Amino acid sequence: MEEKEEHMPKKVLKTPLSNKETEISERTDTNILAIESSCDETACAIVKNGREVLSNVVASQIKTHMQFGGVVPEVAAREHLEAVNEVIAKAFEEAKVEPEDISAIAATVGPGLVGSLLVGMNAAKTLSLVFDKPFIGINHLNAHVCANYIDTDLKPPFVALLVSGGHTQIIKVSGYSDSEILGETIDDAAGEAFDKVARLLGLPYPGGPNLDKMADGGNPQAYKFTKAKTDEFDFSFSGLKTAVLQLVKKLSKEDANYNKADVAASFREHITEILAEKTLKAAKKYGIKQIVLAGGVAANSEIRRKIKAFQDKGYKVYIPAMKYCTDNAAMIGSCAYFQENVITDVGVEVFSRA
Ligand code: KG4
Ligand code: ZN
Repeated sequence: MEEKEEHMPKKVLKTPLSNKETEISERTDTNILAIESSCDETACAIVKNGREVLSNVVASQIKTHMQFGGVVPEVAAREHLEAVNEVIAKAFEEAKVEPEDISAIAATVGPGLVGSLLVGMNAAKTLSLVFDKPFIGINHLNAHVCANYIDTDLKPPFVALLVSGGHTQIIKVSGYSDSEILGETIDDAAGEAFDKVARLLGLPYPGGPNLDKMADGGNPQAYKFTKAKTDEFDFSFSGLKTAVLQLVKKLSKEDANYNKADVAASFREHITEILAEKTLKAAKKYGIKQIVLAGGVAANSEIRRKIKAFQDKGYKVYIPAMKYCTDNAAMIGSCAYFQENVITDVGVEVFSRA
C-alpha cells in the first residue's frame, strides 16, 4: 500500500520480551490495537492503516469523579483496572478481527497519571507477550494531534493547536515524526482554565463542557479581560482565572442572581480568541497552509468555530470529530502507525500531569 510504503519505514519491530523480530507484512493491512488510560477514560481501539477506525471503545469515569469534583488519581487507577479487560474484549468484538489479524499493540506511556498509565501499559505489554506482537509506546500529546489523520487525507506540513486539560501548545509539524513546539502555556493549560472558571461559576465536573453549554446562553461581549503579555507563541491563563474570580466576587456581592452565562460567554470568547489568534500567526509566519486543532478543548464549540473560520482566509482546516477530541484510543492507534521511533521497552519516561 502506498501509505505504508511512505509512512511506515520501520517494518521490522522487536517484541519487548521475546526480543524476536516480527515482520509487519508489506502486503497486508496494518491493524493496531491501542489502549489509552492516562487519565479518567479507559479506552481500547483497533485502527487500520492509521486512518480507519475499526472499533473505538471508551469507558468514562465521569460519574465516579463527579462526587469528588475532579479526578482522584488512586480511584482512577482502580477503575482502569476494573474496565480494561472489558474494553479490550469489546474492541475485538466491534472490529470483528481476531488477535492474529493484529500487527502491533500500542499504549499511552505518558504524560498522564502514573498509576493510570501503568494499567494500560501493563495490559498492552501482556497482550504483546501473549500474542507475540510488537509493543509500541505512545506519547499522549502526539496522539491527540494524530486524531486528525483519522478519516482524512491529512499529510504534514501543518500547524497544530493542541489544547487539553494539562497542555496548551502550538506545534509546527513538518513530517510524521518531525515536529517542533513553537510555544506553550507558561502556567495553566486551556482546559485547566476552563475547569477552574467553571468551578468559580458553580458548575459541576467536568467543567469545560458544562461551561461551554452555559456560555451558549450568554453575551460574549458583556465583559472584557486583559490579554497577558507573553512571548510570541506562548500563553498565560492564570491571570485570566484571577480576573474572573474578582469579577465573580464583585458581581455576586451586587446581586446573588448575577448573570453567570454572560461571564461564561465572555471568558470563552476571550480565551478562544487568544488561542486562535496565535495559531493563525504561527501559520502565517512559517508559510504553512494547513491548520489542525487537537485535544479535549478542541471539543469546545467556540474554538471549533474560530479555527474553522480560517478556511475563509485560504487555509485548509482539520478538526477531529468530537469523539476523537477528548481522550480515546483510536488516536493512539493512529499515532502508532505513523510514528517512526518505535519504543519496544518499558524504559520510557512517565510524566505526571500538570
Ligand atoms: O484531552 P483531554 O480529554 O484530556 C487531557 O489529555 O487532558 O482534555 C480534557 C480537557 C478538560 O480540561 C475538559 O474540561 C476540556 O478538555 N474540555 C472542554 C470541552 N470538552 C472538554 N473544554 C471546553 N469546552 C469543551 N466543550
Ligand atoms: Zn488527552
